[in-house]
Amino acid sequence: MMHNFYSVKDVQSVPDLVQAAISLKNNTSDSQVGAGKTAVLLFFNPSLRTRLSTQKAAQSLGMHVITLNASEAWKWEMTPNAIMNADKAEHIIDAAKVISQYADVIGIRAFASLENAAKDYEDQLLQTFIQYAEVPVVNLESSILHPCQSLADLITIAEHQTKSKNKIVVSWAPHPKALPQAVTNSFLEWITHTTDNEVTITHPPGYELAERFTAGCKIQHDQAKAFEEADFVYVKNWSSYKDYGKVLSTAPSWTIDQQLMDRTNQAKIMHCLPIRRNVIITDEVLDGPQSLVYKQAENRTHAAKVVLKQLLANG
Ligand code: CP
Repeated sequence: MMHNFYSVKDVQSVPDLVQAAISLKNNTSDSQVGAGKTAVLLFFNPSLRTRLSTQKAAQSLGMHVITLNASEAWKWEMTPNAIMNADKAEHIIDAAKVISQYADVIGIRAFASLENAAKDYEDQLLQTFIQYAEVPVVNLESSILHPCQSLADLITIAEHQTKSKNKIVVSWAPHPKALPQAVTNSFLEWITHTTDNEVTITHPPGYELAERFTAGCKIQHDQAKAFEEADFVYVKNWSSYKDYGKVLSTAPSWTIDQQLMDRTNQAKIMHCLPIRRNVIITDEVLDGPQSLVYKQAENRTHAAKVVLKQLLANG
């Protein structure tokens, strides 16, 4: 039984959840399990897909949705037992308890600061809400995890795989700005909970991820070699974990182009979006027949729907 949706650990069986999402997607008669219930979605950072797909999913279950941009609310104090005599007007514990008076489910997006690894990897904002909110909490991308994206990714793979054991390559690609590790951490956490897929990670030296997310994965610093015989290529930029939050390389040689894709087993290519075209992946590949990026975006709604449905079903 799912009580919150923070990480893969909240899910009893990943394959069962993926199949439940696909069944819900193929079932045209919408369940109204959310009738009379309210989802409050809090955004500390911008969003296009997460915001719209979660709203759409909640509404298709009959829920009301209230979305709050955190910059429009009071500034939150995060420190326990703080003496609040500076600029922060509301304690996060009060916020969690107050929002619970209006919501049956709370969704939160709060990215990493990329200043302090230990602090980001505590995921304090999400963890405090899970501790003090009186209703289920859904992680809409925290400092370190993006489970709604990962579930949509696994739905997409399940729909497009032609065999049960796949070679999945997770490839770093360049980006001009420092980005969090959340999407990649989360994808690795989820994909290694599925059947016996083989996962190879490729990135320039210095971009090693936290070991707890890479256990059981192969690391191959030669990107061309990593792509050989791949069935799925999952592309994402992330900033350095070891040299925390730093951009160590923007080498265009790591951009994914058709030549690189031709080394694969006609692999499908995936990215969570938004994407810097012709920096991360070339237009030719992104707009070509191997690209699943819009299928992933579509499946964000079905992922959110199955999660909300299961959380509401628990009462
Ligand atoms: N993939 C994803 O989470 O997109 P948004 O940041 O636009 O929500």
